[in-house]
Amino acid sequence: MSELLTVAMPKGRIFEEAVELLRKAGYDLPSEFDDSRKLIVDVPSAGMRFILAKPMDVPTYVEHGVADVGVAGKDTMIEEERDVYEVLDLQISECYLAVAGLPGYKETGIAPKVASKYPNLATQYFKEQGEQVEVIKLNGSIELAPLVGLADRIVDIVSTGRTLKENGLVELETIVPITSRLIVNPVSYRTKDTLIDEMVERLAKVVEGE
Ligand code: PRP
Repeated sequence: MSELLTVAMPKGRIFEEAVELLRKAGYDLPSEFDDSRKLIVDVPSAGMRFILAKPMDVPTYVEHGVADVGVAGKDTMIEEERDVYEVLDLQISECYLAVAGLPGYKETGIAPKVASKYPNLATQYFKEQGEQVEVIKLNGSIELAPLVGLADRIVDIVSTGRTLKENGLVELETIVPITSRLIVNPVSYRTKDTLIDEMVERLAKVVEGE
């Protein structure tokens, strides 16, 4: 049996864009991909196995070598330093990280509370701003925190801006633009170099052509 390349894919909203990109790069992904709940999908014709993980967990699978490559948001890479190579900006799932809060927000307390899915990133950002804050880690629906008084501000992803708008929040500061990246396990990069180089080349052509 020839060698398989295991690809960790992010479930959820990035998934569709990542699948579309792979199809444009010539990978014949089955329709099973679009509506199945399977977490492992083999595509023998492409010599690939896809594993479907939570976006935040993709770098973990790649770092531990159970996936050779993965599609990971730059946000996940900034939040936790990982021993993986970031080889290509896929230029999909464009969004940015921002600080947001209620309109007219004025800092009052000594260490205002900041809610975020990205506690390390938020801590680092406010440290760089010379501001002392208390970071509260949440796992989702971050915009709820200032509405119910759990936090004064949030650090979160803004994509269309709808979630902020529909919840009466405003953006206070932009932190950094985010896109998805192709990441590679360092050992796989040596042992499966031909397969990985081919994948990078095919994806790079699509990315550059757009
Ligand atoms: C993300 C992010 C924001 C929202 C931004 O959450 O954390 O809440 O999307 O998108 P928008 O600007 O287009 O409204 P996601 O939907 O991934 O779910 P979560 O709240 O569970 O993190």
